[in-house]
Amino acid sequence: MRFVVTGANGCVGSHVVDALLGAGHRVDAWVREGADVSNLAGTRAEVVHADYRDVEGMKRLLRGVDAVAHVAGGGLARSKEALFDMNAGMTKRLLEACEVTLVGPRKFVFMSTVAAFGFRKGSAEEPPAPVSDYGEAKREAELSVLTMKHALDVSILRPPMVYGMRDTRLLPLAKAVKRGWHMHPVSGDRLYSLIHATDLAQAVTATFAWGLPSGTVWFPTDGEDHTQRDLAQSMMDGFEALGDSLKRRELTLGKGVLRIAAHINRATAKLRGTTPALHPGKLGDLLETDARCPPCLIAARIDWEPEKTLTQGMEETIAWYRDQGWV
Ligand SMILES: NC(=O)c1ccc[n+]([C@@H]2O[C@H](COP(=O)([O-])OP(=O)(O)OC[C@H]3O[C@@H](n4cnc5c(N)ncnc54)[C@H](OP(=O)(O)O)[C@@H]3O)[C@@H](O)[C@H]2O)c1
Repeated sequence: MRFVVTGANGCVGSHVVDALLGAGHRVDAWVREGADVSNLAGTRAEVVHADYRDVEGMKRLLRGVDAVAHVAGGGLARSKEALFDMNAGMTKRLLEACEVTLVGPRKFVFMSTVAAFGFRKGSAEEPPAPVSDYGEAKREAELSVLTMKHALDVSILRPPMVYGMRDTRLLPLAKAVKRGWHMHPVSGDRLYSLIHATDLAQAVTATFAWGLPSGTVWFPTDGEDHTQRDLAQSMMDGFEALGDSLKRRELTLGKGVLRIAAHINRATAKLRGTTPALHPGKLGDLLETDARCPPCLIAARIDWEPEKTLTQGMEETIAWYRDQGWV
């Protein structure tokens, strides 16, 4: 089969490209003009420049494609408008390009996030209630995907925090651990679900491979509950596996500090014309003290199982950070 992966140069996208190639498929790796494609170095995929603002252009690129893994998007944006456009807006334009192409894709997998669900404590069947701009933008995108469920075979994945090779979001925490500080944004006891990027990529290929009913939404995780303290400890273990001997002191920032930092970040980033990693539009998710996904009931039905434990996955990640010369 011939697949398109959007956001193919990103952390998750590049792993999805690898997983689909590994399953024997042909892959068009969509990236923006001028994007950093170092994550795709040496790939057998066809790197294709796509303009996600141009529906007609995307329609042409989708000719002869069987399926789309729509991964592009995320929570890093200069403004709320940009955040909604890069998630909800882009998804709507891409779906429009899929819908009007008779020789285009029949299957569509959307990479959403647990933030679109809003960390509800009960079952996955509860109605979504996002608590951040990011979650709301992704939920809007999900609704567009679901309206297409009779025209296309659509599925939605709502992963929790992703880590692994090619991810840089956890790098600041890893750098702090290297300096002997286990930094806890809200609390050391904050509960998480996590997933390693290669396991998430395999979850995408499994979703394509197995005939789930159109409109299926599921939560791939590593199947464990983690605390913020576990995350920092796994990083410390990763450094120690490389022969480092580190101090261990805990530092909890707390909700008030995070709120102030998010607003200062946004103001300074606006002046500098940069994109802040922590901004008020993501705060709601970060302040949740229980950020776990609901239990995953789909995994068994599609014969998918996560392979990486946090200890193994983080050891690899820290070794990769070291190879890059970052820690
Ligand atoms: N990382 C996580 O913890 C996590 C958790 C749950 C869900 N997700 C979802 O997984 C997806 C991939 O995340 P990631 O961690 O791989 O992030 P990433 O490494 O930052 O990659 C994001 C990708 O999306 C593209 N992109 C961003 N803004 C865009 C825009 N306005 N127009 C077109 N392309 C744009 C980027 O292209 P450029 O390189 O050109 O900017 C890049 O290819 C996102 O949809 C995210 O919401 C991530």
